[in-house]
Amino acid sequence: MVLLTGGLGYIGSHTAVELLKAGYEVVIIDNLSNSKEIVKEKIEQISGKKVKFYKGDVRDYELLEKIVKENEIDSIMHFAGYKAVGESVKEPLKYYDNNIFSTLALIRLMQEHKIKNLVFSSSATVYGRAESMPIYEDFPVSATNPYGRTKLFIEEILKDMYVADNSLNIAILRYFNPIGAHESGLIGEDPNGIPNNLMPYITKVATGKLEKLSIFGNDYNTKDGTGVRDYIHVCDLALGHVKALKKLETNSGLVVYNLGTGTGYSVLEMVNTFNEVCGNKVKFVFAPRRDGDVDMCYASPEKAERELGFKATHTLKQMCESSYNFEMKNKE
Ligand code: NAD
Ligand code: UFG
Repeated sequence: MVLLTGGLGYIGSHTAVELLKAGYEVVIIDNLSNSKEIVKEKIEQISGKKVKFYKGDVRDYELLEKIVKENEIDSIMHFAGYKAVGESVKEPLKYYDNNIFSTLALIRLMQEHKIKNLVFSSSATVYGRAESMPIYEDFPVSATNPYGRTKLFIEEILKDMYVADNSLNIAILRYFNPIGAHESGLIGEDPNGIPNNLMPYITKVATGKLEKLSIFGNDYNTKDGTGVRDYIHVCDLALGHVKALKKLETNSGLVVYNLGTGTGYSVLEMVNTFNEVCGNKVKFVFAPRRDGDVDMCYASPEKAERELGFKATHTLKQMCESSYNFEMKNKE
């Protein structure tokens, strides 16, 4: 049985679907700080299987103990955490408290209940300003904001835990830019308020909820001057988690993988592809660069392909179509 922390969120919910499809049983803990309880039913609707849900905080150790007593948990996937870079600069304590303490509680739980397998949601943000592209897993790591620092610290904590007890199996997954939604349109990314990230912003412009997109910078050293990122379909990313779990089940020890496609697309390419899909509804203007942004960021996906047999298969058009489909179905 796999415990998913933050399993009702964007990436967790898609991963729950893939785990159920692969035959795993799934238990979710989520405090609903950035998700809704109805997502549990949507996961069940898509998969045709039941999911056990505990509403609560991962930092609540008593609740964690109750969950392991009531379920035979042998693996944990830790998605729960806050993820808004800008907010983390304004409210660092909130980020350190949630992201670090939730992880410490889980590690303690693993120690006390002899749970050996952990998959952790890290981020390409740990590469900071990489010196060259594509980015390989052995590139130097650094952080430029409190959010990124929590990911970096947690990676270090997990490495220390592994040194102290190498019977643990830990997969650190560094996600590039997840976008898209499940083909059913039942689950997807549904941020509160005005989105910070590109794809949710574009979809809200396409459906008329926001007026126009500001493209942050058109003077970067890239193919068309706009920022380049490695966008990966969230269902591909979810499958990467199933593959990582299977790797842990072979007693892999601590492993680190990029989950990306290896292809970088510019903001303009994103807008143009989305406009093909939705019929030219995305208006945009060029605006100054956003603080802290890098010009380019894309993965080498080779290690994950070689060692996990993982390869993202969705095209950029499919990613845009699924994002648009989700937004259209959930406009209200
Ligand atoms: P999300 O906000 O949609 O999901 C996180 C879930 O965790 C939410 O449902 C939220 O309610 C829950 N949660 C937060 N703190 C909790 C706590 N203390 N106890 C219980 N539940 C809690 O985010 P997501 O996009 O699905 O991201 C999942 C993970 O992946 C995060 O750790 C994030 O930092 C990481 N990540 C995301 C991206 C991205 O672009 N989405 C990129 C790199 C890494
Ligand atoms: N962008 C715009 N306008 C917008 C929003 C974004 O032009 O309104 C541009 C950005 O400047 C960047 C690209 O679109 O060039 C992608 O921006 P996102 O905010 O969607 O994604 P980032 O690459 O900046 O950051 C994301 C997550 C981070 C994570 C990082 C690496 O938000 O948490 O990917 O995984 F660390």
